[in-house]
Amino acid sequence: MDKQNRKAIIAGNWKMNKTATEAAELIDALIPAVKGAGCEVVICTPFTSLAAAVEKTRGTNLHVGAENVHFEKSGAYTGEISADMLVDLGVEYVITGHSERRQYFAETDETVNKRTRAALAAGLKVIVCVGENLAQREQGVTEELVRLQTKIALGGVSAEEMKNVVIAYEPVWAIGTGRTATSEQAQEVCAAIRKVLAELYGQAVATATTVQYGGSMNAANADELLAKPDVDGGLIGGASLKADAFAAIVAAAGK
Ligand code: 13P
Repeated sequence: MDKQNRKAIIAGNWKMNKTATEAAELIDALIPAVKGAGCEVVICTPFTSLAAAVEKTRGTNLHVGAENVHFEKSGAYTGEISADMLVDLGVEYVITGHSERRQYFAETDETVNKRTRAALAAGLKVIVCVGENLAQREQGVTEELVRLQTKIALGGVSAEEMKNVVIAYEPVWAIGTGRTATSEQAQEVCAAIRKVLAELYGQAVATATTVQYGGSMNAANADELLAKPDVDGGLIGGASLKADAFAAIVAAAGK
């Protein structure tokens, strides 16, 4: 019952793929493919495609997000992009804490928190990513780790601001590997995340917050994952780069 009252969100994370020219082509194919979707549909594109994405999706049901944001408002941070710059472009969402940023770009729980707060303060909706790597799963610390990541990422975020927060559970071992978490594993951790949210903000906020699963989600496994009571959507990498594959996942979420 709770699940029906939450917003199901399917978000594509394009990662470092598609030139602006290629992005425009993909968006042209996506617009008719996801028209009338029964869930919210978001595409998170590289910075270089955001302006075109916002322009092209105006008046459609596609929402546009960025893949990262800097935490300072402005200043001497060569190569970085601020939340205000994204808002000014018309960008609505941003991803924080993706495991690839944690793994390759020295992202920590603390910087994830700073980015999340800066983005929320600027009026963006934030998809906060958490998830364990294979060694952590094998050591049996998944739940503790994800609880900690979630708590630190949300430090200083108010219950009111939680209306603009989505949590994405992305087990690192399932990302880009074709090795999806079982629907039971996804459910178990998404439920644990919702429990932390209840501890932090109370049951009403926990019940209202969208919790996504991400990691090799595709047209073939989306139905089963999305049928779980605490899995409210998906954060999609590889399968978001093809209009038909992404549209199939969007259709599964709308059921
Ligand atoms: P894949 O769907 O390619 O496994 O990527 C998942 C992901 O990292 C989305 O943010």
